[in-house]
Amino acid sequence: MKLKWAMLTLVFAWTASHAAIGADAAGMKSGFALSGIVSSAEEGPMEGVLVSAKRANSNITITVASDEKGRYQFPASRLEPGSYSLRIRAVGFDADDPGAISIGEKSATADLKLHKAKDLAAQLTNAEWMLSMNATEAEKGSLLNCVQCHTLERILRSKHTPEEFAKVLDRMGSYANQSFPFHVQKRKADRLLEERGEYREKARQKQAEFLAHVNLSANQTWPYLLQTLRRPMGRSTHMIVTEYDLPRKTVEPHDVILDAQGNAWYSNFGEQAVGMLDPKSGKVTEFNVPILKPGFPTGELGMQADPAGNFWFGMMFQAGVAKFDPKTHEFQTWSAPGEFNRDMTQINMAAPQSSNVDGKVWTQNNGFAVIHRIDLASGKIETFQPFKDTKEGENHNIYDVIPDSHNNAYFTDFANEHIGRIDAKTGEIKLWVIPTKGAAPRRGQIDGQDRVWFGEYKGNKIGMFDPKREKFTEWTAPTAYSAP
Ligand code: HEC
Repeated sequence: MKLKWAMLTLVFAWTASHAAIGADAAGMKSGFALSGIVSSAEEGPMEGVLVSAKRANSNITITVASDEKGRYQFPASRLEPGSYSLRIRAVGFDADDPGAISIGEKSATADLKLHKAKDLAAQLTNAEWMLSMNATEAEKGSLLNCVQCHTLERILRSKHTPEEFAKVLDRMGSYANQSFPFHVQKRKADRLLEERGEYREKARQKQAEFLAHVNLSANQTWPYLLQTLRRPMGRSTHMIVTEYDLPRKTVEPHDVILDAQGNAWYSNFGEQAVGMLDPKSGKVTEFNVPILKPGFPTGELGMQADPAGNFWFGMMFQAGVAKFDPKTHEFQTWSAPGEFNRDMTQINMAAPQSSNVDGKVWTQNNGFAVIHRIDLASGKIETFQPFKDTKEGENHNIYDVIPDSHNNAYFTDFANEHIGRIDAKTGEIKLWVIPTKGAAPRRGQIDGQDRVWFGEYKGNKIGMFDPKREKFTEWTAPTAYSAP
């Protein structure tokens, strides 16, 4: 699931350093700046509680997890001296606020007392809501069309009747993909009016009824028990998470790439500016992306580096791709060609990873389920239409386009269960069917053997396609409703 908050998160495994640091807990720099025991009356010492520390006036938050004895420890190298506030995450529990913690020369301690949460519903993840509700898998699956923009809590706390929900669903459908409650952007092309057939009308009515059945329209509380997933255990607790607040709540970091200097570059799903974060200082620098279609929703989605280290962005409803040179800070853009540049045109991905092979960059066009290829020398743009001859009522939607080492393009058909390939030399298009029905293949990557790896959003699996053997392998995510 993509990040919807103005925050970047980097995770480091620390299995090895954990033991090494533990052996030398007394000395400051090599020991722990802050440690303590997390416990509750219900469980005694608690494993897998996330403890987060944030220094006053800093935009960096460090998180560690408690071990099987309930002990949490922040390495001294991660917390510089200063005044820190602490918060915890352990679903079902709140903590008494220990107040400001002063970290100085000596190692500090703070034991944390937890008690049953006052408002469990406010702590549930989307997966936990889906686990809890009494609904069919198809009904639960339909909620995966809501979680891109906000949490399910917002929906399940509502009191809407089916009639009211039908209107809410219309409003949701009028929002551009990058909308979220802090920054609403309207679609130019009204997808609803365009697509509203009898079948869709019925589906909308059914969904409205289902939603009014699982929210608070009929009862003071939910007509099902709220269930929680277990906390991290054992090796899963050996980690340090570093989070960076970005300059505004409306920044929606979508893709993130590290450059050779270790800076984290990100596309901004909702705003016309990409950013660079220096993970050492937490400082963020932003660069304005040109506007191609004034009045259309702003923001970029996919971000990839070309072999020369330039970054490329899919410009969504601005209907083009942008190349950014991190040395000169200059942008160059290409717009979707003539008949394919209309109100519903939506370019999510730019795929320059193998452009050194033949000087060409791939991109998809979601409004039309087509793929474009830009010849960088001439600026000429070709269009490939894998689903040109599909039958009435069949729905296709090209989500990602992924070049292999010869710059052949693989693509994922999100509305279905296809992986496709366009041969770079001949233009021949081939389709393969993923074994899991309705898998909804989403983002993909190529490995060193030119095999395609992809998330199966609705199949809850990771898939791999080996072109040499024309064979799929799939792995189910260990947690239900992970929606890779
Ligand atoms: C493209 C982004 C987007 C998607 C997808 C989306 N929403 Fe929303 N939703 C929003 C935004 C933005 C708001 C806040 C503004 C508003 O209320 O219109 C919101 C608010 C809401 C609210 C609270 C406001 C109210 O009127 O009660 C409900 C309920 C809701 N959404 C239901 C849904 C459901 C159900 C789905 C899935 C079928 C869904 N949303 C999908 C963007 C989205």
